[in-house]
Amino acid sequence: MAIRKLRLNDDEILRKKARPVEHVDDRIREILRDMAETMYAAGNGVGLAANQVGLLKRLVTIDMGDHLYQMVNPEIVSAEGEQLCLEGCLSFPGKWGNVQRPWKVTVRALDENGQPFEVTGEGDLAKCLCHEIDHLDGIVFVDKVTEFVQVEE
Ligand code: NI
Repeated sequence: MAIRKLRLNDDEILRKKARPVEHVDDRIREILRDMAETMYAAGNGVGLAANQVGLLKRLVTIDMGDHLYQMVNPEIVSAEGEQLCLEGCLSFPGKWGNVQRPWKVTVRALDENGQPFEVTGEGDLAKCLCHEIDHLDGIVFVDKVTEFVQVEE
């Protein structure tokens, strides 16, 4: 395993669309493990998309504190409600802002063995799923912020 270098701020890879993964193989599993390790090493990170470590592959890791989700080709298949979320991002250190998101989403993905699964998240998990899947489409939270907020870190 290895900690990978985080891409920051104006790095153009953050604005590019990631490509679907065709085969979930050892190489993909290694990237997912590295992404999780990089996310944990960053301390305050709850999610990471592959763009953020310089790879245009549709891979996401999320851990809100109770479960590590490793997602290949995640897609939002349903969304309902709305919430105003306070968000930050490991790629935009020191920036925080409010973003409008759905309250609840269901996401379909493949796991690290290539098996399909679904996760339904509400509140913070829904926020995180939407934020990370946006990354795969080259969309970063600062594009969606309705108001930047000062947060003590
Ligand atoms: Ni982010």
